[in-house]
Amino acid sequence: MKTNFLILIFLVKFFLVSAQASKNKDLVEVKIDSILNLMTLDEKIGQMNQYNGFWDATGPNPEGGEQLKKYESLKKGLVGSMLNVRGVDEISAIQKIAVNETRLGIPLIFANDVIHGYKTLSPIPLAESASWDLKEIENSARIAALESSAAGTNWTFAPMVDISRDPRWGRVMEGAGEDTYLASLIAKARIKGFQGDDLSKHNTVAATAKHFAAYGFSESGRDYNTVDIGDNTLNNVIYPPFISSVDAGVATVMTGFNDLDGIPVTGNSELIKGTLRNKWSFEGVVISDWGSIREMIPHGYAKNADNAAELAIKAGTDIDMESNIYVRKLKKLIIDDIIDEKLIDDSVKKILRLKFDLGLFEDPFKYLNKEREKEILNSPELQNAVLQMAKKSIVLLKNSDNLLPLKKEDLKIALIGPLANDKNSPLGNWRTNSDNNTAVSVLEGMVKYIGNEIIYEKGADLILNPGGIVKFSEKIIINENDKSGFDSAKIAASKSDIAIVVIGEDGFQSGEGRSRSKIDIPGVQLDLLKEIYKVNNKVVLILMNGRPLDLSWADENIPAILETWQLGSQTGNAIAQVLYGDYNPSGKLTMSFPRNTGQIPVYYNHKSTGRPGPKKVVFWSHFNDVSNTPLYPFGYGLSYTSFKYSNLKIDKKFLNANQVINVSILLENTGELKGREVVQLYIKDKFGSITRPVRELKGFKLVDLEPGEKTQVNFKISEPMLKFYNAEKNWESELGVFEIFIGPDSNADLKETFELIQ
Ligand code: BGC
Repeated sequence: MKTNFLILIFLVKFFLVSAQASKNKDLVEVKIDSILNLMTLDEKIGQMNQYNGFWDATGPNPEGGEQLKKYESLKKGLVGSMLNVRGVDEISAIQKIAVNETRLGIPLIFANDVIHGYKTLSPIPLAESASWDLKEIENSARIAALESSAAGTNWTFAPMVDISRDPRWGRVMEGAGEDTYLASLIAKARIKGFQGDDLSKHNTVAATAKHFAAYGFSESGRDYNTVDIGDNTLNNVIYPPFISSVDAGVATVMTGFNDLDGIPVTGNSELIKGTLRNKWSFEGVVISDWGSIREMIPHGYAKNADNAAELAIKAGTDIDMESNIYVRKLKKLIIDDIIDEKLIDDSVKKILRLKFDLGLFEDPFKYLNKEREKEILNSPELQNAVLQMAKKSIVLLKNSDNLLPLKKEDLKIALIGPLANDKNSPLGNWRTNSDNNTAVSVLEGMVKYIGNEIIYEKGADLILNPGGIVKFSEKIIINENDKSGFDSAKIAASKSDIAIVVIGEDGFQSGEGRSRSKIDIPGVQLDLLKEIYKVNNKVVLILMNGRPLDLSWADENIPAILETWQLGSQTGNAIAQVLYGDYNPSGKLTMSFPRNTGQIPVYYNHKSTGRPGPKKVVFWSHFNDVSNTPLYPFGYGLSYTSFKYSNLKIDKKFLNANQVINVSILLENTGELKGREVVQLYIKDKFGSITRPVRELKGFKLVDLEPGEKTQVNFKISEPMLKFYNAEKNWESELGVFEIFIGPDSNADLKETFELIQ
């Protein structure tokens, strides 16, 4: 018996290795079937079980003391993949158990949340999206793949492609903003960057489009909250970035925590099987979110753990991340004839296929090279790449009297604010693999520009957590009262030519579980800004934040405002280059900034309503105490130079399905500095079988111009660009009149009209 068993192991291992050598798809399928035939039911279910590592957690621990039994489960082949295991040493140790100590030696996949870099951090994704630079964004994901794969990671839980219109939701920092068209392109760029052209290379990682679906529309922006939206928003706004991810060949899709129209998405068969698999032909792996199978019980949908397992597997969720339910319950469901073993086989095949695609059968240790890890992590090339991305992510919101850029000499600067010399907050949230306090602070970045005298004063603390550091899951204690540092900050400002005030959110005020009911500048910081302004009105406000904030007072009073988000490792260097004009800011907002929290949601592609106004009488859709418009609209961002738009031309007034309209404008750099403009094209469908947005982004071009230089910027409009999910529940265009707008932001006012005809 024992001898037979050993032979079996030998044969299987031999077989697995030789199977990997082949890139032939059909052959791989044959091998997958053969492996499946050798697997016990327990081993198959094990492949569908994902455990968190033993060192860290990004969510609540599973129930039942199972954490302690993880090593045992590993050895029995009851684990298929792991998350939050980091670095070549730790991963090698666990991979060795899987390969050498389990019966079949099937390698594990190691996943991590590589959201904006691994050790070397690029800007948070919301910031990157403000660059509108798809190449740079792709490169940023490439850098993250290079670094994380060198540390043994094979799979990242990114990109998050959830659209959100609610800055109260902490996870807007992880997305690409409010617009579905731009977010779809960014999703594609990120996936390409992560996955490259061959997943089996040791320096590419499998990507995950998450969280399917509609997680970003939680009521009131409270994380994990109910989502209740109609078919129209789902199809026209939320789905396109997922469709674009599937088209880009994303390897995996993650479900969300939310329910959608009453059904938790992790157990929603219509969504996963009906839409993702059948309609969009997604063939990859679907993974639950952390514990989201189990969470169907408190949702009041699954009656117990058995029922949760049944609902999730029937819906098409292949991997259970940390619910610990598949591994405990699926077998019994099969024995009791509640589910068909074929469902398990289908999921396991997909998981094995992913392991083949990643090249793990060929060499389970191919990502695990100590030398490479040492050479690549934090290398100067990576730091330089994230610096390029960081500069392009900054948005200039205001610049009265050309206060910026700063002179490099003969300028006395007071640098003030709790974030001015902070090396931690600018790293942002979702940086589980990086080290604390590793960002270049603004002070450090500016000091490099010798010539200017800089007086630094903190002014106040932003947070009161011990050591000024917040952990991933820890509550933040905001300083709401202590202003004892204000006086020295005021003295510094009054003695200086200019005051640069660096304030905003702590790096952990956005991200998962970090919703805010008010999106103001937190704590005593706004008071600090006001006090500084009283003694020196030449103030440059540098904001660091993970979401749009209410900046109404600052916009009214402060002459220069730079939105720098959380820019990652190279924060201070990027900001210094922009402050001194070595990089002319070119970012444009990808989320509207409200005038106050009560305006939320405020977004550019809203519907018109039956009473759009403005009217003299009160009976139109508006607030009595604030305008309908945002403070800064989607697409908005200034430059140190100025651009003139003129001469909007279209070459035909009628379009049919076989034609293209050529559209052009003349763009001129009318200022004195070289600069980059993001030229934006919006289209309005005047009437539809369902109400249509007031305008929608349909194209953009990044144009670099020298001072005085002019260029014609061209776009093409064709019928597929006019399609939407209509009253017939079809994705199609409808005949009629359309308006085109081209300009520097979503208020673009150069306008033309055309008609779509038969
Ligand atoms: C998040 C996911 C993440 C997962 C693993 C969850 O709490 O919602 O986005 O990938 O944890 O860390």
